[in-house]
Amino acid sequence: MIFDGVKLNPAMDADFPAVYQSFEREDDIMMNDRNFILKGDICYSEDAKHLKIYPDGFLVCVEGISAGVFEKIPEEYKGFQLLDYSGQLIIPGLCDLHVHAPQYSYRGLGMDMELLEWLDTYAFPEETKYADMDYAAEAYSYFVHDLKYSGTTRFCAFATIHEAATLQLMQMLEKSGLRGYVGKVNMDRNSPDYYCERSAEASVKATASWLEQAEQCCQNVQPVITPRFTPSCSDRLMQKLGELAAAKNLRIQSHLSENISEIDWVKELCPWSDNYIDTYVKAGLTAPGRPSLMAHCVYSDAKELQVMKANDVFAVHCPQCNMNIASGIAPVRRWLDMGVKMGLGTDVAGGSTLSIFRTMMEARQVSKLVWRLTDQSLQPLTLEEIFWMGTKGGGSFFGSVGSFEPGYEADALVLDESRMLHPQALDVRQRLERYICLSESQDIKHKFVAGNCIF
Ligand code: GUN
Ligand code: FE
Repeated sequence: MIFDGVKLNPAMDADFPAVYQSFEREDDIMMNDRNFILKGDICYSEDAKHLKIYPDGFLVCVEGISAGVFEKIPEEYKGFQLLDYSGQLIIPGLCDLHVHAPQYSYRGLGMDMELLEWLDTYAFPEETKYADMDYAAEAYSYFVHDLKYSGTTRFCAFATIHEAATLQLMQMLEKSGLRGYVGKVNMDRNSPDYYCERSAEASVKATASWLEQAEQCCQNVQPVITPRFTPSCSDRLMQKLGELAAAKNLRIQSHLSENISEIDWVKELCPWSDNYIDTYVKAGLTAPGRPSLMAHCVYSDAKELQVMKANDVFAVHCPQCNMNIASGIAPVRRWLDMGVKMGLGTDVAGGSTLSIFRTMMEARQVSKLVWRLTDQSLQPLTLEEIFWMGTKGGGSFFGSVGSFEPGYEADALVLDESRMLHPQALDVRQRLERYICLSESQDIKHKFVAGNCIF
């Protein structure tokens, strides 16, 4: 097991529940360094319309960075360790741009309500439990374990309002070898007494203290400013978080235009705003050159999408959550046509799975429903488009991530199709399409994050 020299706080490490410590797999491979070559049937997105496919290709990784994919090993790399997965698919790691780590505990439950009632009934009571560090350590250990062995290499996660448990989650994720962002949630209004920060000042103070510790505890798991959504954050809190994000050049994540009652509520709460996204823009939370994430955007019209595009806001498509709590179907074809940045989110526990493969499939399925039932100009998403959203499209939030083009960070999955036997010949594209539809987490053989093999 290689963890690239990551040092964890030993006291925290000792506090991890035994169940987490014992979650290593038997077939971990040994690697000498981050210079190596992966051989196999390699596939990645060039853009939203085109796949690059190299049957029997060689992906060269130099110090954790892709040097490209080749049909033959170039002379200068002949001395590199060769990891031969001939006949197996190799694709970029997947990106989950929206997941609630504390809600993983109740995944698969509570699908009988719409958003606002669902938050009060399930999300807030569960998230409150993370004030208890024993509960948090156990619950987060299950989340981190399952995320580690999923197809996801990069994530952007919500935690809770609690500083200590959020730091614990960050340290566990750091130890897993995955990379991404975690946010301590901010909420100072319209929330139950038992799960609400006392004032905007108290919320910002706790955030500043958490940021200071987060910067020290982790290298590869970074903090992201996380106002839960406009209804739970006063104008004053939004403004102060906007100032903090701008001063420290931090990214932000939140929710946008998910549900009709929620949108009506935002109009009531912020009569001065042009639309929902304006409540974030006017607070300085979003700005050009400082990419941010907005989950859902089911009801974002052309004007809202235009403002998002101008402010480098990623629209995060969470199709399973949008179905489970009956929010609606996001018109992703419109986002693509307008050139809005975007990616996929599992949105556990509105969604019940951590699988971005399954999320790709659901994105494709709901795109057919919205086309068939509501608007025939919204053409269904193609295999190329869903794969791009889960890799290079979403990956661009993290930098050069989600592709094997030269200069990209070497996040790679070696896929195991042995449970998916077939008698006929299939080409690499067909095998990829089928794998996205059929795979479970046990169908991933190895995962590399920035050139580190994490299993
Ligand atoms: N809006 C505000 N909080 C949440 C949440 O936890 N899940 C979802 N799906 N939407 C939200
Ligand atoms: Fe969410």
